[in-house]
Amino acid sequence: MDYTKTHLTQAFINLDNLTHNMILLQKLVGNRPLWPAIKANAYGHDAEIIGRHLTRLGYAPLCVAHIDEAVELIEKGLDTRFIVLSPTLPENSRYFVQYGLEPVVCTLDQVSTLAEVASKPVTVHLKVDTGMGRVGIQPDQVVRFLEECARFPQITVRSMMSHFPRADESDKSFSRHQIERFSQVVEKTKAQIPIYHFANSAAIFDLPQAHFDAARPGISIYGLKPSLTMTNPEVNDLRPVLSWKTRITFLKEAPEGIGLSYGHAYHTERPSLIASIPLGYGDGMSRLLSNRLEMLVQGVRCRQVGRICMDQCLLDVTDLRGKVVIGDEVVIIGKQGDEEVTADELAETLGTINYEIVTNIAKRVPRITVGGTSLMNASWDRAT
Ligand SMILES: Cc1ncc(COP(=O)(O)O)c(C=O)c1O
Repeated sequence: MDYTKTHLTQAFINLDNLTHNMILLQKLVGNRPLWPAIKANAYGHDAEIIGRHLTRLGYAPLCVAHIDEAVELIEKGLDTRFIVLSPTLPENSRYFVQYGLEPVVCTLDQVSTLAEVASKPVTVHLKVDTGMGRVGIQPDQVVRFLEECARFPQITVRSMMSHFPRADESDKSFSRHQIERFSQVVEKTKAQIPIYHFANSAAIFDLPQAHFDAARPGISIYGLKPSLTMTNPEVNDLRPVLSWKTRITFLKEAPEGIGLSYGHAYHTERPSLIASIPLGYGDGMSRLLSNRLEMLVQGVRCRQVGRICMDQCLLDVTDLRGKVVIGDEVVIIGKQGDEEVTADELAETLGTINYEIVTNIAKRVPRITVGGTSLMNASWDRAT
C-alpha cells in the first residue's frame, strides 16, 4: 500500500528551496564549511531526505543530537560523517567507535571512557561554555583539559565549539561578550586545535565575527528565520522548505448555535458549512491551537473551529459554499493562491517558536519530496 496516498495529511519538502538556502548561507560565510544540523528528524523535515540532499550537495559532517539519529541514517545507507552534539552516558561510548561517530565532549570522563573502548582512532569536538549555561568546559579549564586529552593517543581533538543562547535577539551585546571569551581560548589553544566553530543560524546572519572556521546552521537551512528580530535583511531571502497540507474528507451544513467537536468548545455563530479534515494532534498540530487557527482552502483563509482532536479537526468553509468539495486541498503551512500561512504565524499564535512547530510534525505524516533533481547541475562551488 502506498501510505503517502492514504495518509492525506502530508508534508512537502522542497529540495530546490533547501539548495537555495544553502547557497545563501554559503555566501554569508564565504569559504568556510557549513556543518548543517539535521537533528530531531531534520527539524521535522525528514532527516533521511534532508541528509541525502545535503550529502549530494557535498556537505559533511552533518550534526545530529543523538547516537541513534546517526545510526538510523547510516543503516539507511547514508554514507557521511556525523557530529553528535548532545552528551550521552558512558555505557554508550562504544557506539561512537563502532559507527565512527564524532562526539562533542565536555568532561574528562567522557574522553577516558571513549579511550577505553577505542579500538580505532576516535575524533572528538570540545564544547566550551561561553555563556549558554547548558553543557561545556569552562573557558579557563580548556588548556588543562587539552593536556589531559593528550594522554589518550586514540583520541583526536578536531575542533572546539561553543553555542549562542541569544544571537537571535536584536541586542547582540551578550553574544559579543561570548565571542570575546571564545577568542581568548582560541588564542591559547591555536597550536593544538585545527578548527573553531561557534555560529548557529542567527550568528551566521547577524554576527560575522563569530564565523571562525566553520558554522553549524540549523533552522535557516529549512528556510525559517531564527527569530523575527534579526538585523541582517538577507534573512528575508530564505525560502521555507516545508509546506504542510491535507484534504477535506467530509462536509456538512450546521445550523446556527450548534456545538461542534469535543467539549463543544465552539458553537456555530451562523448557519455554517463545516469541513472535516484528517489533521489532529496525532499529526503534530497542537490542541492548544483549537479555535485559533486559519487554514487555506481555494486561496481563502478559513477558521479552524472546535477542539482539535487526535486525528481530525473542523474548518468553517461557509464563505466557500457552492464552491468547496470533498477532496479539496487545505494548506496548513504554505502558500495557496495569494495567501500564505507561515510556521511563524502558527508559532506566534501558540506562543512558541517556528522550530517547535515544524519539529512537532508527527512521524506518521508522510514527507513528500519536491524538486531536487536540478541541483546536480547547479553550477556553484561548495567551499570546503
Ligand atoms: C550545538 C548546536 N549548534 C547549532 C545548532 C543550530 O542552531 P539553529 O537551528 O539556531 O541554527 C544547534 C541547535 O539547537 C545546536 O544545539
